[in-house]
Amino acid sequence: MKAIILEGINKPFSYADVALPTLETGEALVRIKAAAFNHRDLWIQKGQYAGLRFPSIQGSDGSGIVEKVADEKDIAWVGKEVVINPSLNWGNNPDVQAKDYIILGMAQDGTFAEYVKIKTNLLHHKPGHLSHEQAAAFPLAGLTGYRALITRAKAKYGDNVLITGAGGGVALFCVQFAIALGCNVYVTSGSEDKIEKAILLGAKGGINYKKENWHKEIQQMSGGFDVIVDSSCGNTFEKLVDICKPAGRIVFYGATLGAFNSGIPAKIFWKQLTICGSTMGNENEFADMVSFINKHEIYPIVDFIYPLEQAQAAIERMERGEQFGKIVLKI
Ligand SMILES: NC(=O)c1ccc[n+]([C@@H]2O[C@H](COP(=O)([O-])OP(=O)(O)OC[C@H]3O[C@@H](n4cnc5c(N)ncnc54)[C@H](OP(=O)(O)O)[C@@H]3O)[C@@H](O)[C@H]2O)c1
Repeated sequence: MKAIILEGINKPFSYADVALPTLETGEALVRIKAAAFNHRDLWIQKGQYAGLRFPSIQGSDGSGIVEKVADEKDIAWVGKEVVINPSLNWGNNPDVQAKDYIILGMAQDGTFAEYVKIKTNLLHHKPGHLSHEQAAAFPLAGLTGYRALITRAKAKYGDNVLITGAGGGVALFCVQFAIALGCNVYVTSGSEDKIEKAILLGAKGGINYKKENWHKEIQQMSGGFDVIVDSSCGNTFEKLVDICKPAGRIVFYGATLGAFNSGIPAKIFWKQLTICGSTMGNENEFADMVSFINKHEIYPIVDFIYPLEQAQAAIERMERGEQFGKIVLKI
């Protein structure tokens, strides 16, 4: 089969012939029709990720058709259009992943290929209103956003919600999910154009995080926030504490700007804030997210579609930060 191979740190992706995966019991072989990029794929290529092994096939997001299954009991899956839950080995505790938890696409070969093998319990029916390209856009980013916004931040109808970096894959799902919940959604972004696009989706307002006093302006615009979902950390964090309302919740799932800057702890405890981290999501959350996408007829925002062999050009677009939504590979 054709696949995109990463041979080592800082190497460009190459398009190559590799052997078809061999199925073990409990697994299915999925013919991938579309896959999508996550920032994780860029961290891996740059060597900034744990547990690297080479050569490898990356890709956590995939939508396709089940070609065959290892066990007779799973035969009903054959021929079905599916999306794949990339959370492997979450384990029995819904609150936290098990020690052997991994994400599809490192260390297990992923979806940047014509075929991928996957446990059948991680298969879900593709939402009928979505193309394969749209369906491939939601698994990892949607799951991360769903758990961060709904399970961890407990966002609900009428909450004022701030999503930072609205152009990102996860952030944009948070925007779409929060709008579907009936929250008053505001965004930050490094691009005016991306703010305008978020407003067209239903956000009430936004501000460019490159402005010095962006946090004061967005607080004035909104009256402060019940929920903030962030992936930047760094010197953003202290500002988020300032604009969070008393009893508000700040959830972060990434740290694009690095370690937290210093802040005043008293602001956190006096305002009774909840500050928490969130990573990916469990199997129930994936199933709930698929139902949520079906119920609210959410269409993932696809930024750009490249053919599989142009995976290197696709990740360079992500590195330049040009995207609004998901960068997809068509296979
Ligand atoms: N813990 C988890 O389970 C998990 C899951 C997925 C992702 N992540 C992490 O979350 C981060 C985003 O991932 P992604 O796949 O959504 O990335 P992505 O699609 O490449 O988007 C990059 C994001 O960074 C934002 N950004 C860049 N500079 C910023 C700044 N100065 N202040 C605020 N935001 C800034 C961008 O906002 P604009 O484009 O709007 O400027 C955009 O939202 C990455 O660090 C990733 O590793 C963690």
